[in-house]
Amino acid sequence: MNSINRLYFIKAVNLIVMGLLLVTNSFSQSKPIIRMGAADTRSFDDGWLFGRYGLQADASRIEEPKNLESVKFNDNDWKKLSLPHDWAITGPFRIELEGATGKLPWKGIGWYRKHFTLPATDAGKQVFVDFDGAMANAKIWLNGKYVGTWPYGYNSFRMDLTPYIKAGQENILAVRLDTENWDSRWYPGAGIYRHVWLVKTKQVHVANWGTYITTPDVSKTSAKVKMDVTIDNQGKSVVNASIQTDVFELDRNNKQGAKVTSFNKSVVEIEPGKSTVIATRALIKNPKRWDLLSPNRYIAQTTVTVNGELMDTYDTPFGIRTIEFTARNGFLLNGRRVEIQGTCNHHDLGALGAAINTTALRRQLTILKTMGCNALRTSHNPPAPELLELADQMGFLVWDEAFDCWKNGKRKLDYNKLYEEWHERDLKAMVHHDRNHPSVFIWSIGNEVMDQRNVVMTKHLADIVRAEDPTRPVSNGYNDPDGGREVGAVEGLDIMGVNYFFSQQPKWDADPRYKNKPTIGSETSSCVSSRGEYFFGNEYQNWQISSYDNAYPGWGCSPDEQFRTNARYPHLLGEFVWTGFDYIGEPTPYNSDETNLQNFRNDPEKKKELEAKLDEVRKKNPPSRSSYFGIVDLAGFPKDRFYLYQSHWRPDYPMAHILPHWNWAERIGQVTPVNVYTSGDEAELFLNGKSLGRKTKTPGKDFRLIWDSVKYTTGELKVVCYKNGKQWATDVVKTTGEAANLTLSADRSVIKSGGDDLSYITVKVTDTDGLLVPRSHPLIKFSVEGPGEIVATDNGDATSFVPFQGHERPAFNGMALVIVKAKKGHKGKFYVKAQSAGLGSKDLVMESK
Ligand code: GAL
Repeated sequence: MNSINRLYFIKAVNLIVMGLLLVTNSFSQSKPIIRMGAADTRSFDDGWLFGRYGLQADASRIEEPKNLESVKFNDNDWKKLSLPHDWAITGPFRIELEGATGKLPWKGIGWYRKHFTLPATDAGKQVFVDFDGAMANAKIWLNGKYVGTWPYGYNSFRMDLTPYIKAGQENILAVRLDTENWDSRWYPGAGIYRHVWLVKTKQVHVANWGTYITTPDVSKTSAKVKMDVTIDNQGKSVVNASIQTDVFELDRNNKQGAKVTSFNKSVVEIEPGKSTVIATRALIKNPKRWDLLSPNRYIAQTTVTVNGELMDTYDTPFGIRTIEFTARNGFLLNGRRVEIQGTCNHHDLGALGAAINTTALRRQLTILKTMGCNALRTSHNPPAPELLELADQMGFLVWDEAFDCWKNGKRKLDYNKLYEEWHERDLKAMVHHDRNHPSVFIWSIGNEVMDQRNVVMTKHLADIVRAEDPTRPVSNGYNDPDGGREVGAVEGLDIMGVNYFFSQQPKWDADPRYKNKPTIGSETSSCVSSRGEYFFGNEYQNWQISSYDNAYPGWGCSPDEQFRTNARYPHLLGEFVWTGFDYIGEPTPYNSDETNLQNFRNDPEKKKELEAKLDEVRKKNPPSRSSYFGIVDLAGFPKDRFYLYQSHWRPDYPMAHILPHWNWAERIGQVTPVNVYTSGDEAELFLNGKSLGRKTKTPGKDFRLIWDSVKYTTGELKVVCYKNGKQWATDVVKTTGEAANLTLSADRSVIKSGGDDLSYITVKVTDTDGLLVPRSHPLIKFSVEGPGEIVATDNGDATSFVPFQGHERPAFNGMALVIVKAKKGHKGKFYVKAQSAGLGSKDLVMESK
């Protein structure tokens, strides 16, 4: 094996080893998603019809007809589809559209209709439809009758269909969404982009999100578990309801295991049309605690009976763990100090857009876990239920966030329009929906909101959250942390969230108002880069950004600088980097969104400088349509920074990474700096076998090793890293030959035929020795033979206007991605082919089971 192959082999082995580690840590790809809720909950994703009105993808308008909710409306020519659905991700990208929201035509009016029939035996049941999220301004009708609305597109909500449902006959559910009346600083997606569920219960049943489990007293030998159950009586007479809850282990496969305890049985009288909360308690001996490496969970199964007749059963997965936040000694999970090594992420899944897909999300989280990330910030909105379920399963902590603005918006039509009427309902919905997840450890009421100095509003919102869940702290992400503390707004919070501006930390650590307030870097760094691009001199070229990881906006800093800050303030909780993954929209610095000016509200000079930059961007109108902030690119390919974070976040994991690539024919004899990211503490660099010297990290100061006077010559760069004087890890980068082949590899070669299981296939442009050719961009054509299909393609290039659904696209710096799935209901082998002129074609066998 030659050295570079060895290099890729080593990195592949790293990923495999990590993968195995993750599997043995009891989360495999096939673990089912467990939902909290009633036993009779069915997917309601299939069989929808869709019509788009108002603004169209090509900027034309189609007038929205009246009465689209009517039973009589003829929807024969509407598009048939299954949810989740993001109507905007098919584009096309249009240069005149905003970069901030991805240059995609997401504004419009979307109507969804579903015809369905319930068996006659459902007469008398309560029937609900649960939306995990619909973007935005959802209005719902059943059989032409208005049922209700939920405007905030990121929250989950329930609609009670009971008054208008007809058992044994056809029903028509109609949903109107309106993104013309919504504004965003990033790509929000558009449509019913999360799952929808049909829930049937009897008249006496557990309320929506009606269980709340806490573990007030946990030791190694026992855990006291408290459970509040809210029971609704939607019948017409008083009932005596008995409530019984048994607790089972969730085994390694997320299946119900042995019974461990039962809550004391309660009998309550409930008036018709009323709800009652029943508080029960139980003890679990020798609890298997939920932790990052052993995410153990339990499931509570509640049954409700009236006069011996079973009314409802309701599942509540939960975990047992203790969390403690200190101002002097950081964060403690189960009594053990855990440094928060978090990433902020927006909700889109790259080429799939906002439409939720569990396989895609699991892939993202697996990549983050491999890097050593242990916490996720759901910036800046409540997440899909699957994110919290995966975080529970995989062992991530979650900063669960409600809003990007309160009463004063950042854009004309953002949450400021909803604040007065909806903030309380939205906050309560988020907390009720998410509070049984052991992964959720901090509630956030906002991000850099304009009202962050508002003392009354801050306390008001934090109190709403605390009333619904006093077991977790409430925070808020400040980009004016000093202002917020000065006026006393931060006194209303349990945890101080600082975005970027740490300069006065020592002053606040000494302030009697804040010296006992735990503090976290709720947003850090904002380093920007393009995978595989390296520029010398000017870091910004061709709407790309150099990957030496030294570029960041005026409010940000390099990852290394943030590590130094963290080392300076070891008593803080840790950080959430902006961002783990690239996302659609906000292509800073090629973005003209004015909100960022707020970062310089206390620095007029810098503000002016940024204003000028924004003007320039506006004039040039760059093609950039997705972010450069990601540690991982939009296609899911790690950028160099991935290895910088890995080296710091996984100090015991032997690794080394050299940058840049070594194909610089035009730079012979020119200085070409070499950086090494390693979890070792010392390294020696060799160019064509000749030592370029040994360098040592100064603890707390150096997080990368730099050889900044290397003169380029073709050949081989090799680094040998040491830790505590012993050889630790090596890496090799070699000048490659011309592009000669395509090399395909799938993250999973066997997938389920259910229709939404995916395989991500990486295509590398390689030379005759199998080395990745770094600066190659050949056009690649993809096709599938057999019962599979292409879902999307990508290459991580933030400036590409090729539609994500396109079956051909150029490689970007030697790499491209094709996402495939098995056709619904089909099993067996299918073949994914990639071909490129002059590079031949390659097939990969996939199997659907
Ligand atoms: C922050 C903001 C994020 C994102 C980031 C980019 O100020 O909270 O949403 O815009 O800047 O650096």
